Amino acid sequence: MVDAERFIEEATAEIRETVGDAHAVIALSGGVDSSVAAALAYRAIGDQLTPVYVDTGLMRKGETAGIRETFSFMESLRVVEAEARFFDALAGVIDPEEKREVIGEQFIREFEREARETEADYLVQGTIYPDRIESEGGIKSHHNVGGLPDVVDFEGIVEPVRDLYKDEVREVARALDLESVVAERMPFPGPGLAVRVVGEVTREKADVAREACHVVEEELEEYDPWQAFAAVVGKGTGVKGDNRVHGWIVAVRSVESRDGMTARAQEIDWETLQRIQSRITGSNENVARVVYDVTHKPPATIEYE
Ligand code: XMP
Repeated sequence: MVDAERFIEEATAEIRETVGDAHAVIALSGGVDSSVAAALAYRAIGDQLTPVYVDTGLMRKGETAGIRETFSFMESLRVVEAEARFFDALAGVIDPEEKREVIGEQFIREFEREARETEADYLVQGTIYPDRIESEGGIKSHHNVGGLPDVVDFEGIVEPVRDLYKDEVREVARALDLESVVAERMPFPGPGLAVRVVGEVTREKADVAREACHVVEEELEEYDPWQAFAAVVGKGTGVKGDNRVHGWIVAVRSVESRDGMTARAQEIDWETLQRIQSRITGSNENVARVVYDVTHKPPATIEYE
C-alpha cells in the first residue's frame, strides 16, 4: 500500500518541477483517476492548471452538478456545456459504432478547443498502472494512453498516478479529501446514455433514459449489481386516461459479473420490479411500458448497443 501523504508530497513536487511556470490542462471525467490527477496537479500549480469537464448531455443524472460541487475549490474549472453540439452531431446516426465514433471525435474537438484557448503546454492525464500494462501488452488501447489530442502540440504529458493501482488511487483520493469520488460506482460506459438509447439519440430519449437509470440505480442498490440501468428500446402502445398513446418502451437491466466479459441477469423480486415500473412510468407520461431483461451475457451484451 502507498503512503498517501508522502505520495502526495512527492507527486506535487514532481509536477511543479516539470510544469514550472507553464500552463497545464486536464480532462475531468468524474472518475476517481482523473479526479485525483487533477487534485494533485491543482495542489502543485494552482490556477496554472485548467481542469476541463465536458457535459455531453449523455451523463448520469446530477453528474455535472456533482462535478461543480466536488471541484468547487478549483477556480479555474471549466465546464463546457456541449450538449447541443453532441446532439447535433448525433442527429440521424443509428449505427452503434458510428455513435461511438461521433462522440469520441466531438469530445476531442471540445477538449482541443479548450486546450488551445488556455494555451496549455502540458497535458495532465489520470493514467494508472494497469492502463499502461494493458496498453503496452497490446490487450487493448486505453483511452488514457496517447488517445487524446494530437492536434494540440503539448510540450509534455504529466501522469501523476501512473504507478498506482486503483485501490491506491482511492487511498490518495481520501487523503486529498475527495471522498465523493471514492465511492465504488457501477461502471458507466464512455459514450454514456447514447448506448442506452436504441436508434437515434435525441434529447427526449436521453432524458427518459437518464431518469430511468437513476430510478433503477436507487431501487436496486441492495442487490449490489455489477451494473443496473435502464434503456429506451423502442416505442409501443399504452393507455393514458381514455386514450391510446404511442409511448417509449423502457428496458430495465441488472447484472452480476466479475469483469464485464460475461454476466448473469439478476433475479429481482416482483415488488421491487413493480416499484421501478411505477416510478418510471410516473416520472414521464411518454413512457408506455417497462420490461425487465432476463438475458445473460452471452448471448446478449450488457449494454443495448
Ligand atoms: P457490453 O455491452 O459489451 O459491455 O457487454 C461490457 C462492459 O463495457 C462497458 N461498455 C463500454 N465502456 N465505452 C466504454 O467505456 C464503450 O463504448 C462501452 N460499451 C460498453 C459496459 O458498460 C460494460 O461495463
